[in-house]
Amino acid sequence: MKRPMTDSVEVLNADMAKKNLGGHWQLGFESYLAYPETTVQPCLWKWKDVYESLMRAGEVVGMDQAERRTIRLLNPALKERQATTHTIQFSFQYVKAGEHARPHRHTAAALRFILKGNGAYTTVNGQKCVMEEGDLILTPQLTWHDHTNDSGKPIIWLDGLDIPLVQSLQQLLFEPHPQEAQPIEKTSDQVALLYGHARPNAAAAAEFFHYKWSDTERCLSALVKTASPDRFDGYILEFRNPVTGGPTMPTIQCALELLRPGEETEAHRHTSTVIYHAFRGGGSSYVGDERFDWQQGDSFVVPLWYPHRHVNRAASEAVLFSMSDAPVLKSLHLYREEPAGL
Ligand SMILES: [Fe+2]
Ligand SMILES: [Fe+2]
Repeated sequence: MKRPMTDSVEVLNADMAKKNLGGHWQLGFESYLAYPETTVQPCLWKWKDVYESLMRAGEVVGMDQAERRTIRLLNPALKERQATTHTIQFSFQYVKAGEHARPHRHTAAALRFILKGNGAYTTVNGQKCVMEEGDLILTPQLTWHDHTNDSGKPIIWLDGLDIPLVQSLQQLLFEPHPQEAQPIEKTSDQVALLYGHARPNAAAAAEFFHYKWSDTERCLSALVKTASPDRFDGYILEFRNPVTGGPTMPTIQCALELLRPGEETEAHRHTSTVIYHAFRGGGSSYVGDERFDWQQGDSFVVPLWYPHRHVNRAASEAVLFSMSDAPVLKSLHLYREEPAGL
């Protein structure tokens, strides 16, 4: 082994660099913290800004110019990645009366929660899901999906996709469908009957895509009448997979949080990152050093490990829809949560 006459750490580092090698001593231990650190920033987006941009896009962006007419919420710290958080992309989609968004599929899992308008439909793997406000419709990994608005009125929904996560795993792919529209084989109402208290054998396990608001609303109301609120999340309902009881999708947990008039939650923090959208009512959320005052239609991000709590000072109930990457953290045994002072 040939060594330089006067060897040193600096000479060794320089020689190793030429051979694509690096010493652990070069990392700098002071850069490690005793808690997880994120580049995602807390951020609030106001509905009036989103709505104005959506309406203008409706005038100047045709469906032939864009696969989907969506407007993304960009985290100020992640603008280069065009992402809302490091794991989830949140956007709003506007489909005018008579428009059709052609079918495609991708490895990114997606969901849509309907905000304004009724009667349009999404077709998922041949299953027609007619949209009502408050419905949640899933398009899991590699399911074919297209959107058709034959309701005679415009419709707006929010989209959540795990694109940033799938991209960082270098697994993103996209495929257009060979036809202009998917043939419809069944409806989500027909399929829903197979997931009630009496069920066939598990054959249809992967076919449940549509959580209807009429069911969710009844469930929320029953929860408020029969249980106590969670100290950190108020009355919280998680959208679970009806077969496994597991998360909404492997990468995203969707939930609704109801805050009664005057309700104030306690502060906590967790290793998952959550995007909230105010579906009904208004309130305030404290996230780290920030206070976000939100009204119906506003959206905000709670980055991982930021202490946060919610307050409803209004005289009516507030309902927040949320998307979290907790299932990813839990499957990797990286999920932690704890009470936090704020
Ligand atoms: Fe899509
Ligand atoms: Fe939380």
